[in-house]
Amino acid sequence: MAYLKNKKSGTMTIGVLTSGGDAPGMNAAVRAIVRSGISAGYQVKGIRRGYSGLLDEDIFDMSARSVSDIIQKGGTILYTARCPEMMRPEGQEKAAYILKKHSIDALVVIGGDGSYRGALSLAHQGINVIGIPGTIDLDIACTDYTIGFDTALNTAMEAIDKVRDTSASHERCSIIEVMGRKAGHIALWAGIATGAEEILVTERYDYDEQRIIDSIIEKKKLGKKLHLIINAEGIGDSNGMAKRIEAATGLETRATIIGYMQRGGSPTCRDRVMASAMGAMAIRVLTEGKKNRIIAWKDGQYCDIDIEEALAMKKDLDDNLWDISRKLCR
Ligand code: ADP
Ligand code: F6P
Repeated sequence: MAYLKNKKSGTMTIGVLTSGGDAPGMNAAVRAIVRSGISAGYQVKGIRRGYSGLLDEDIFDMSARSVSDIIQKGGTILYTARCPEMMRPEGQEKAAYILKKHSIDALVVIGGDGSYRGALSLAHQGINVIGIPGTIDLDIACTDYTIGFDTALNTAMEAIDKVRDTSASHERCSIIEVMGRKAGHIALWAGIATGAEEILVTERYDYDEQRIIDSIIEKKKLGKKLHLIINAEGIGDSNGMAKRIEAATGLETRATIIGYMQRGGSPTCRDRVMASAMGAMAIRVLTEGKKNRIIAWKDGQYCDIDIEEALAMKKDLDDNLWDISRKLCR
């Protein structure tokens, strides 16, 4: 275990930060890191506002009590930020220097792929980094699960169900835009869960609006009263699409953009438990002396993957779920 000891204090010091878009369950992960770390005999330091706070040296000691009463809270008590300075070599060198100055031996980064790229730059300068997947978008290639996805999805589903009630009452067509600028996982899952006629995601949509219009007219003739279209954020122009569909079909059409409410709120049980397990696993991986790993959930098991390998992986939508969604939307 010699590797685990900080040369100055004799005790391993772990830093933790949250970075990129916040996600419900990040707090549960922070809590698990702090409490498992302390149980293992380590010091834990919180870093506020992701890499931005690291560069500002906004670093503080954490205790078991500093993570009381947060497991049920959305957002992140460590705050989060996007930090352009960290994309440049000078910023990365400064960040590594500050971590060493504060005797931080290992940094746990809760965030997405972008945050891992920042972490990799620190790994190249001798900081041991551990990533935990935290994003509502489910768009991290090395893992089948990301903290926050379940909560965001359930929020989206409940909101869509509500729009569906009013849409059905007025016999309207509804376009509902869910989050996911670059990834359609939320749209796909929410679309299946709410029985949407169309699910438009950047990974699959061919921008053939005429096909959608023809399909609405066809289904209307067959007696279909409700037409639900789920747009992933990356498709854009939901309001414009609503106007065009209304003009072409004669069917009243409204667009609803659910927006940031999907990123907030109390995490679901699944997110709390996955986040707790992943946070605890980050500490276990450090105790085992491993370096530069991403904690993941793959094929029904927790595992850890080399950060460079993780970043080289690619992820697409689940083909099976996509095919199912197409078969069920008649
Ligand atoms: P996410 O972690 O959710 O993918 P971002 O892509 O916004 O979120 O990345 C979060 C932060 O990680 C960025 O603001 C930046 O500070 C850092 N980051 C992103 N990409 C890189 C990169 N290629 N090199 C170094 N740092 C990066
Ligand atoms: O957290 C993920 C996400 O919601 C993406 O779907 C979206 O692209 C992005 O964050 C938007 O975040 P912001 O508006 O904070 O940049």
